[in-house]
Amino acid sequence: MVKSLVSIEDLSDDDLEALFDLADHFLEEMKDESRPFRVRGRRQLADDQILATLFHEPSTRTRLSFESAMIRLGGHIISSPDGKSTSAVKGESIADTVRVVENYADAIVIRHPWEGAAQVAADYTAVPVINAGDGSHEHPTQTLCDLYTLRAAQQSRRGRSKKDAKRKRQSLRELLGGLTVVLAGDLHHGRTVHSLVYALARLGVSILPAPATSEYDFPAHVRRRLARDYQCVSVPCAALADEFPGDVPADYLYITPEKSHQLSLWEQPPDELIRKWTRRVDVVYATRVQEERRVGEEVPPRARVINTEFLTKSAYKDSRIMHPLPRVDELSYDLDNDKRSMYFRQAAYGVPVRMALIAGLLELRPGLIAAEGRQGRYPVYARREGIACTNPRCVTSQESERRYLSQKFWIVDDQELTVRCAYCDFEQEPKVIARASTRKYHTETRRWKSIGQKNLVFFADEAQAREAGYEPQHAPLRSETECGAGV
Ligand code: NCD
Repeated sequence: MVKSLVSIEDLSDDDLEALFDLADHFLEEMKDESRPFRVRGRRQLADDQILATLFHEPSTRTRLSFESAMIRLGGHIISSPDGKSTSAVKGESIADTVRVVENYADAIVIRHPWEGAAQVAADYTAVPVINAGDGSHEHPTQTLCDLYTLRAAQQSRRGRSKKDAKRKRQSLRELLGGLTVVLAGDLHHGRTVHSLVYALARLGVSILPAPATSEYDFPAHVRRRLARDYQCVSVPCAALADEFPGDVPADYLYITPEKSHQLSLWEQPPDELIRKWTRRVDVVYATRVQEERRVGEEVPPRARVINTEFLTKSAYKDSRIMHPLPRVDELSYDLDNDKRSMYFRQAAYGVPVRMALIAGLLELRPGLIAAEGRQGRYPVYARREGIACTNPRCVTSQESERRYLSQKFWIVDDQELTVRCAYCDFEQEPKVIARASTRKYHTETRRWKSIGQKNLVFFADEAQAREAGYEPQHAPLRSETECGAGV
């Protein structure tokens, strides 16, 4: 099966370790002595391969570092740096675009404003697809750079010498688990923080969300995914805000208990525990307010500025300052020479990290990426009729894509029937289930399993079912085997 990277969840912990080890290898082998975070020169690993970069939104770091990575691997690139110069402006669909481009390239990197666009690209092409940002949804390769930077910082903090590394290899979980990370800025629209928060939750990092204003807090679908997929719990901590040694006006703290029973021990963890989690902030990850994603909405007052003054509080004494860049005014230039600042290093690491990713997906290093990805975790529901994704920015909500795409959801809760769009992650709770063969519907949604997959239709409510020509079934639901399949 062709492997693609659409969500950070497509990579297992082992995949991450393997990619980072290979990035270490490229950094070591192609080191630029004058600038330790940069690689130089060119290898002949991909000299018969072409990478296509299809960017439908502006980019500096992501596109150029992918292209630099491919060139340093010895490969070649073809690029469409601006959506306006492709047939997308003529109304060409994503599926058609990638089915054409796969004849010209061996892998495709895509950035697109629609959420789920990279998944569509991956579904419709025979070559690996890399998500370089799909709307506000995810940006998994930025998270790779972020995790790699943090891993390197932790290794140097723990004074890892080469000999130590051989004696005891510390896993990513051992290096990052237990850290406390402040995520600041635009947590609502920022795709970088979405991929990052999933990875941090998975690795057992405590997260203090510090949105620019409450409107910029994590959207509901991100919170739900954190809770459902990572058992991440939000712990109110505003009561302790005055005691925080830092300036973080966090209302809540996200933690992922190591063992599920830990949660039931503290309905609300004791204050001492919260103090322990917040006393020392290991990372402040700042992001810019994404004004371009608030079309027609009022832009709120200036975001909090992370600057030298902010960092004088004792909680930030050893904090790493990170930012995916570009910055606007949320991160002061006065920090550029501060030894805690890591943002230019994050950008520099983009090359060796993306070299490793390309090498993995193009099988230049066979077997490097082993995981099967996210597919298969939850049952799938895919149909043309019935519920539609409620996210107007979802790829399935777009005119050009609706002509060929079915709605596709994962059934993430089978008791309180809940489905999650397989493209953009928005969740909804259908209130009606129906059998396509009999055109009858029922409101007893817990019994959805009685209807065979081929006949199962979900509707948002009774009005939607009626509009689609379905009628209520008053008799209790019988399973397909009881009433004969398809009857
Ligand atoms: C980010 C992006 O495009 O999502 N930049 C990046 O890729 N490093 C962040 C942003 O635009 O604010």
